[in-house]
Amino acid sequence: MSKKVFVKTFGCQMNVYDSDKITDALKIIGYEKSEDLSSADCFVLNTCHIRDKAKEKVYHEIGRVREAFLNKKKPLVIIAGCVAQAENTEMLKREPYIDLVIGPQSYHKLNKTVLQFQKNRLKSEITDFDTIEKFNYLSKIQNKRSKVSSFLTIQEGCDKFCHFCVVPYTRGPEYSRPFKQIIDEAKILVQNGSKEIILLGQNVNAYNYNVANKQLRLSDLIVSLEAINGLERIRYTTSHPRDMTKDLLDCYKDSKKLMPFVHLPIQSGSNKILKLMNRKHKVEEYISTFNYLKEINHKIEFSSDFIIGYPGEEIEDFENTIKLIDKIKFINSFSFIFSARPGTTASKLKPIDEKISKMRLKIVQDKLFEYQRLKNKSFENNCIDVLVENEIKTQNKLFGRNVYMNSVILEGSKNLIGKIVQVRVTKSNQNTLIGELSNKNKFKAA
Ligand code: SAM
Ligand code: SF4
Ligand code: F3S
Repeated sequence: MSKKVFVKTFGCQMNVYDSDKITDALKIIGYEKSEDLSSADCFVLNTCHIRDKAKEKVYHEIGRVREAFLNKKKPLVIIAGCVAQAENTEMLKREPYIDLVIGPQSYHKLNKTVLQFQKNRLKSEITDFDTIEKFNYLSKIQNKRSKVSSFLTIQEGCDKFCHFCVVPYTRGPEYSRPFKQIIDEAKILVQNGSKEIILLGQNVNAYNYNVANKQLRLSDLIVSLEAINGLERIRYTTSHPRDMTKDLLDCYKDSKKLMPFVHLPIQSGSNKILKLMNRKHKVEEYISTFNYLKEINHKIEFSSDFIIGYPGEEIEDFENTIKLIDKIKFINSFSFIFSARPGTTASKLKPIDEKISKMRLKIVQDKLFEYQRLKNKSFENNCIDVLVENEIKTQNKLFGRNVYMNSVILEGSKNLIGKIVQVRVTKSNQNTLIGELSNKNKFKAA
């Protein structure tokens, strides 16, 4: 009888992609994926270190697992992801319930480590940066079924060292996967049912792969993906404003499959703060990227990430962030109070008053949410293209997304999963659009 593995994931989409790969890898040594923690033989916690309390969250989770298995056989407990990389042996020392600790660039060694542990019960941590080997190994493991919308990691790590960020330390130096390896993976995803591919990287638009003295970039990947029959939508995330090169921007002129929605984190609307953050770009450059894209296609919309209350942020800096939001009218964004991360340059700077940060965050979020609600409202009584992704079993409804990644809920039969359908939006709120199949659809809407 096969064993069961329960995987819990925190953090960004790259961790979601990694968790799927971890699950596929463990299957080879007899662990089937399970949604039920209480009957698991192995528990994997894929962790994130981006903001504070990350470490404590991990120990808290372990506490819950320990409680769930109080009167049962203890599962094999594996900590993966960015906290594993940052804390490594410390975790084994602090929490005896943990058996193995494995960093994001060592997942190709996971199965060997688990098998060894089963034999000798010796706890271990593996946190080498071995990205090439990892992708060579993981790309050979293929799953037979794909989600309608699939993630595909093309690039890992970061060399930019923004002063607030742990990613260069937890994911290591920038690495771009071989071009052909990515296209092969994309083709398999599409053969197995994917209609949308979301290319991933901590700095996805820094993708740069050298073949026969030619630098292949994200724009080249988009062109090659465009040619895959059956693939309907292409997206990429997360990009850095400095790497929005002209070849990439011009893809929005030529590509039919690249979605008109750009997630481009700016962090602050103040050049002074961007400099203190070591972002190496200016607000004006960001705005000119926005204007260039709007000229290509006025339907293109932006979303962003903001850090509020960065050390040194004065009222004028904050007001400049508000001005930028009013200028771009982001349709969906993430905003967080600055969190001092161990080992980063910004952790040594004098923090600003927490009350002020909280007040500013509230103002920013109210504004961002208002633009989000307004955009969603503008869809009401209009028809939009929706890629149906799955069924919401509890509601007997379908779930899909429009071109801007908005969640759309509609009624319809399961055979629409994987299809792009026209939906008339009847209602909207900040996060969701509710709609019905439009009679413009050519198929019979059972
Ligand atoms: N590479 C992307 C970029 O350069 O914009 C960002 C990737 S990072 C994983 C995701 C987001 O986490 C960042 O855009 C930033 O807003 C947020 N973040 C990172 N470090 C943070 C910190 N110390 N405090 C608060 N937010 C942080
Ligand atoms: Fe972190 Fe992004 Fe800056 Fe890299 S570019 S250090 S991932 S915020
Ligand atoms: Fe978190 Fe690591 Fe992603 S720190 S945001 S899981 S790269």
